[in-house]
Amino acid sequence: MELYLDTADVQAVKRLARVLPLAGVTTNPSIVASGKTPVNEVLPALKEALGNKGRLFAQVMAPQAEQMVEEAQKLRAMVDDLVVKVPVTAEGLAAIKQLKTMGIPTLGTAVYGASQGLLAALAGADYVAPYVNRLDAQGGDGIQTVKDLQQLLKLHTPGAKVLAASFKTPRQALACLLAGCESITLPLDVAQQIITTPAVNAAVEKFEQDWLNAFGTSGL
Ligand code: E4P
Repeated sequence: MELYLDTADVQAVKRLARVLPLAGVTTNPSIVASGKTPVNEVLPALKEALGNKGRLFAQVMAPQAEQMVEEAQKLRAMVDDLVVKVPVTAEGLAAIKQLKTMGIPTLGTAVYGASQGLLAALAGADYVAPYVNRLDAQGGDGIQTVKDLQQLLKLHTPGAKVLAASFKTPRQALACLLAGCESITLPLDVAQQIITTPAVNAAVEKFEQDWLNAFGTSGL
């Protein structure tokens, strides 16, 4: 499986790339805007923080396919192996088709339904990102959508991957992985909750204290 962080926080990526088996970093316009660093500065910095092997994803903003394709080229000029995120609107599908012919890898984003995701994959998207928590929040079933999409891609577009996104809890991420999802992107707070739970810290502190009480020194 592939594990991504959904963030534009360069320092956090540096810190967590040391700890986690990261496949890369995903961003979206809201995430980049929240950091307030211009996109042409933050994307190369994120790429550097990830190192050679990590993949970076960034999203186009334009509503029309032709402009999406131009923006995709601008993003690729900032980071040459960047995967371009394209919202799966009608224009987005046209842009994905065009980018496929140009050899530019894409992720179909803002996916709220399995059939919408399948269309992105049929158009040539390498990844499709269903929004798990946003689906749940509007009364849908994020995990079921992931399962359906996973099955559809396996049947009809075996080259495309589900990269599940929009998580608010570790439980949602786990359910997604149990459903067979091959890649997920986690916001920093969810990643942090998985790495550091209070019970684990308490257990480690107790080991240290017992050792110190018995031997008067910490460590071996
Ligand atoms: C990824 O493609 C999405 O942009 C992102 O995960 C959305 O997450 P949110 O619902 O927490 O904003």
